[in-house]
Amino acid sequence: MQVISISSLKGGVGKTSITLGLASAAWAAGISTLVIDLDPHADTTTGLGIKHDQPGSDIGTMLRKPKHHNIAEHAVPSGWVPAAHQDGTRPGTLHVARGSAKTSMFEKVSTRRRELNRLSTLLDTADEYDLVLVDCPPALNGITRMAWAASTAVLLVAEPSLFSVAGTERTFRALDLFQREYAPKLKTSAVVVNRVRAASTEHKYRLSEMRRMFGNRLLDTQVPETSNWQQMQGAAWPVHAWPGDTAHTAARTFDHLLESLYDAKQPPRRARRS
Ligand SMILES: Nc1ncnc2c1ncn2[C@@H]1O[C@H](COP(=O)(O)OP(=O)(O)O)[C@@H](O)[C@H]1O
Ligand SMILES: [Mg+2]
Repeated sequence: MQVISISSLKGGVGKTSITLGLASAAWAAGISTLVIDLDPHADTTTGLGIKHDQPGSDIGTMLRKPKHHNIAEHAVPSGWVPAAHQDGTRPGTLHVARGSAKTSMFEKVSTRRRELNRLSTLLDTADEYDLVLVDCPPALNGITRMAWAASTAVLLVAEPSLFSVAGTERTFRALDLFQREYAPKLKTSAVVVNRVRAASTEHKYRLSEMRRMFGNRLLDTQVPETSNWQQMQGAAWPVHAWPGDTAHTAARTFDHLLESLYDAKQPPRRARRS
């Protein structure tokens, strides 16, 4: 099982949008996927078409007693499934561990292993998934660190702006320190740039600056500023099932992004056991 956390120091840079894009790419590729919404705002849960009053515990409740919950039993199927039936595609399993404001009780940063390993412990019951995507809150708080401790890859999201570049550098520094001590499973940490406008001179400058600063940790795939993004998200629809050239191009971008983070050659956990 590969666990990818999507995080950033700042809000509004596109963590949730990138999580939904990666979920859509995994769904279209037939990868058995669990999305965990760790942001107390729970936007990912909404974007995946989940009603907040569905049965099953939310992730905040599960994290309180991780040994007493089976995450696969409480995860709910994404509301994207009907989209598949309409266009005839056969998507993979896409389940969601619902977000809720209860997660905010884990915001305080702790260095106690028991606290940091709450999500790792819960993921011991996520055996049936090959990929877990974790949308983090916009802070390097206890929740984000809990996600990092459970991750095999961390994807930082940045915008091509001065403050976002500086924030990403600080986040990489914090992540590297954390990895040494607390995140033994973490193999990959990379940054993706979102909302890129190819014609912008400022964006070109910031991208070359990031290439200098982050080297090959800066992913080649960049996510462009996309005009009908909010329409798609508002409809809680996967980008891979949205009509039109713009959505088609965005879907290919997320396919490439997923390819650079998810090792499809790694045998599924179930297969390795047998
Ligand atoms: N590439 C993009 N093109 C256009 N709009 C975007 C793009 N990425 C994000 N947005 C919009 O920006 C806003 C903030 O994005 P969001 O994914 O919610 O950020 P975060 O989760 O980091 O707070 C949302 O309204 C979203 O639709
Ligand atoms: Mg968000």
